[in-house]
Amino acid sequence: MSLQSALNHAKRNLRLDDDVRFIRSWLERPMQMGAVVPSGKFLARTMARFVDPNTSGPIIELGPGTGPVTEAMVERGIDPARMILVEFNAKFCRLLKARYPEATVVHGDAYRLKRTLASVLDRPAACIVSGLPLMTKPVRTRMRLVNEALNLLAPGAPFVQFTYAVVSPIPRRLAGVRSEASEPIWLNVPPARVWVYRRD
Ligand SMILES: C[S@@+](CC[C@H](N)C(=O)[O-])C[C@H]1O[C@@H](n2cnc3c(N)ncnc32)[C@H](O)[C@@H]1O
Repeated sequence: MSLQSALNHAKRNLRLDDDVRFIRSWLERPMQMGAVVPSGKFLARTMARFVDPNTSGPIIELGPGTGPVTEAMVERGIDPARMILVEFNAKFCRLLKARYPEATVVHGDAYRLKRTLASVLDRPAACIVSGLPLMTKPVRTRMRLVNEALNLLAPGAPFVQFTYAVVSPIPRRLAGVRSEASEPIWLNVPPARVWVYRRD
């Protein structure tokens, strides 16, 4: 077996292990997980494309799970030492710490973002990327989260969110916030779309 095919084989096994971990967590807490399997690589790469590696400052990821979007950001050239990963599930936190030892992994509640990041965030963030299942939360909770997140970002910096819903998970009437959406990512299971929100 060539080195390349051995590497591909190892990567496939890793993905399979992650699928099993994810399905187990979904069986335990379906509303908290919001998905049965981790995001596929097309969705993860679309999320990462909205993160500019040439900015400075922390990159925050909310609900990284087993880390497919984290991996896509690393592939894009983002230094894991800049990353702050906020995850509610303790098992995923252990996995993320082992995979990205340079990143800051915070075991906490992303819906209490300012408080959760109080001890680790000392300057405006360059980007916030979110895999949280927003649609399982009431609209007021979603709006509060996005407002809190935008307050932690540098002016004009993006809050990037994926959703399986056909509409924006954040009402487009949110004052002072402009949004844009990616094309649907049909190759993800289920198909998804990426939304980006910025302060005007
Ligand atoms: C739909 S999964 C997305 C996982 C990963 N980003 C992906 O794309 O495969 C949602 C993730 O958000 C995490 N999560 C849910 N509620 C959370 C909260 N309040 N704070 C932090 N993480 C949370 C879940 O544990 C899970 O890992």
